[in-house]
Amino acid sequence: MNQLTPEIIQKKLKTGLLGRNIYCFNQITSTNDFAKKLLEQNAPEGTLIIAEYQTQGRGRLGRSWLAPPGKALLFSLILKPETPMKKIGLVSLLASIAVAEAMESLVNVKPALKWPNDILLNNKKICGILLETVTNNFSDLCSFIILGVGINLTQQVEDFPKDIKATATSLLIETGQKIDRLNLLSTILSILEDKYLRFKNGEDTFIGQEWLQYCPFVNQSIYIKMNHDELRGIFAGLDQNGSLLLKDAANNIRKISYGEIIKCEKQPW
Ligand code: BTN
Repeated sequence: MNQLTPEIIQKKLKTGLLGRNIYCFNQITSTNDFAKKLLEQNAPEGTLIIAEYQTQGRGRLGRSWLAPPGKALLFSLILKPETPMKKIGLVSLLASIAVAEAMESLVNVKPALKWPNDILLNNKKICGILLETVTNNFSDLCSFIILGVGINLTQQVEDFPKDIKATATSLLIETGQKIDRLNLLSTILSILEDKYLRFKNGEDTFIGQEWLQYCPFVNQSIYIKMNHDELRGIFAGLDQNGSLLLKDAANNIRKISYGEIIKCEKQPW
């Protein structure tokens, strides 16, 4: 794969905000961790950190995120939305829509979104998103977001750790194609910037609507793993803040704001 540098990326980007500042690494612990350090130095909104390899890549729910050098697109963005904390989940939905739209337009695939922000191809995970927030102690506003994105590009099946071999995939495995990483990055950032600026301007109903277009789980039986708990029900959609709506046997709707969806083959009750 061609080496990415801040200059090469800058030349390709069509964005005004995202990728305003760029840091590229051959190896780093985690782009999200580096973003956190930059935030302490007051890095501007839109700062992009990208790495060929992470020694301590992190995933959601305390998991690690592994990818061999140069085989994935791994980046983090610093965002400063100044939005109420309850709306933050919408930003991760936005990011997953942007990745799905970019893939669809460049590779002619139809990705599926699994709440809150996994991207699947043929039922296997190809992209994960980790959103970390820093709140303002004096108000309920979320001051900073670190949005970390990992997209599997050229891994072969044997590149994935044993425990995720059956559930993870790459663009190469699914399509036989090696996509131009720079083009993918630039397309994602353009789409994301457009949606993010709308969100910052107070528009947000479009997010759930667009997200649901990519979600195959609506009205399906699911169960949700939350730490040691498991909830079963029907996926009834999203609320205005991006929480999942789970319908139980008595038609009661419960709002879920974190967890992991597993699809059930049978009725949940
Ligand atoms: C998930 O569990 O699905 C989220 C995975 C997020 C991985 C990305 S790779 C770039 C950024 N840096 C990290 O350490 N994690 C995120």
